[in-house]
Amino acid sequence: MSALRESAAWKTLESHRADIGDLHLRDLFAEDPSRGTDLVAEACGLYFDYSKNRIDRETIGLLTDLARQQRMPERRDAMFRGEHINGSEDRAVLHVALRMPRSRSLVVDGVDVVREVHGVLDRMIAFAESVRSGEWKGHTGRPIKRIVNIGIGGSDLGPVMAYEALKDYSRRDIEFRFVSNVDGTDFYEATLDADPAETLFVVSSKTFTTLETMANAHTAREWLLDGLGGDESAIAKHFVAVSTNADGVAGFGIDTANMFGFWEWVGGRYSMDSAIGLSTMLAIGPDRFNEMLEGFHEMDQHFLETKLETNLPAIHGLLTVWYRNFFEAETHAVFPYSEYLHRFPAYLQQLTMESNGKGVTCAGERVDYGTGAIFWGEPGTNGQHSFYQLVHQGTELIPADFIGFNHALNPLGDHQDLLVSNVFAQTEALAFGKTVEQLKAEGVEDRLIPHKTFLGNRPTSTIMADRLTPRTLGTLVAFYEHSVFTQGAIWEIDSFDQWGVELGKALAQAIIPELQSETPPEPAHDSSTGELIRRYRRANGRQ
Ligand code: F6P
Repeated sequence: MSALRESAAWKTLESHRADIGDLHLRDLFAEDPSRGTDLVAEACGLYFDYSKNRIDRETIGLLTDLARQQRMPERRDAMFRGEHINGSEDRAVLHVALRMPRSRSLVVDGVDVVREVHGVLDRMIAFAESVRSGEWKGHTGRPIKRIVNIGIGGSDLGPVMAYEALKDYSRRDIEFRFVSNVDGTDFYEATLDADPAETLFVVSSKTFTTLETMANAHTAREWLLDGLGGDESAIAKHFVAVSTNADGVAGFGIDTANMFGFWEWVGGRYSMDSAIGLSTMLAIGPDRFNEMLEGFHEMDQHFLETKLETNLPAIHGLLTVWYRNFFEAETHAVFPYSEYLHRFPAYLQQLTMESNGKGVTCAGERVDYGTGAIFWGEPGTNGQHSFYQLVHQGTELIPADFIGFNHALNPLGDHQDLLVSNVFAQTEALAFGKTVEQLKAEGVEDRLIPHKTFLGNRPTSTIMADRLTPRTLGTLVAFYEHSVFTQGAIWEIDSFDQWGVELGKALAQAIIPELQSETPPEPAHDSSTGELIRRYRRANGRQ
């Protein structure tokens, strides 16, 4: 058995779990009436109510003991100092430096990274202002009216999520599109009604080698040159790149003067506030972008400086560990009650699952405990009319985060009251359910009672903010980033590598020529894969 499972803090939590066992949230609230006002934490404009979780007043203390035993605070401090905590790639992990104010300095491997960050931010600001003001002209002298970000994974999900989340603050006279999928449909639809003379492509790729992004970028190049009469000099006015790979950018034909860099210590899924956020800055403007960075930084400081017992991301991360390892919960749901956050669950899927979907520890030992939960979700209230049935009455325990706002960005009649009433009603229903006695008292027919019973005792956390602003978005994303960090530290895994994406990429590279060759490829696969390749070739008129 692993040292973690043998450890004192883990064993104490196991017996605590046995004690807490089937204690119902109904009883926990009845016995402890101030639970709803005490088991909460508030910071950086977020009110975090974790009282509707399957915990008692002892649990957070035991979980923070586990965090200390696992040296989580020391690991956190090492990250903030710029140590190479991403061991398998021998890299620092410094997304927190992306949002440090200009006045700060952080010297890592002999370089003041904060100075470098602000150098790039200044170039982004100058560029964004010139595009937004119309000063930046396309090849034929027309201003830019459509901006297409081409990227995938962290080079797409952060930008598209932030654009959608902050649409209310964005320029409406410039259209923003996001192309990620190598399915040609994605590019086709993003440019269908676009005028090449007014279109700017932002090619976002940390490595500038990613198959999907390179295929889409080459297609964009052809589309632009076709539309503008084939003059290669048009590229400079219609393509900019965001990358760490200057040679790759130059090789593609983009002037490196139009390249915005970042650094190997920014992981793809932690990069939306680096130059990868260029499309966000183009949409909302430099001042709003800066407000978002301030929100991120505020939460970073909270995570760094606050004791674990009142530390929002630490508590959230520890509760995720609690359910994953002591209740065997396999999934964790996130339900934002804001239409603007409709891409937030998809963004979180990469953040959480690419970070913590690991089967070995940093030392390379196979784990004998569950790691990263499957994160999923959809905005409420839509989810309520779809999969919430299973969350309420199904056989799985699904811890869930409900995210709500006090104020709407588009107040229409009483819509916000209706929306928020559902946040509160759902968490209440999930916690307390509906008993046989209540149903009987309502005169429900006996045969329907089993169907109408809600067992309750389904854990939720509620995160409320005043309104969705760039600053709120920054704090919310940093909250989840640091929750992910907390979980990874407990599990002793490397939350910052992603070797699991490599095998599929390599196999696809081998299969591409087998689909395209004139003559049938030599048999090189299992019988299923071989037959799928043969059928696809035949369907495309190849032998
Ligand atoms: O899917 C693997 C991955 O490396 C992600 O971690 C990353 O966000 C994405 O691909 C895109 O990579 P790049 O920015 O280098 O194109």
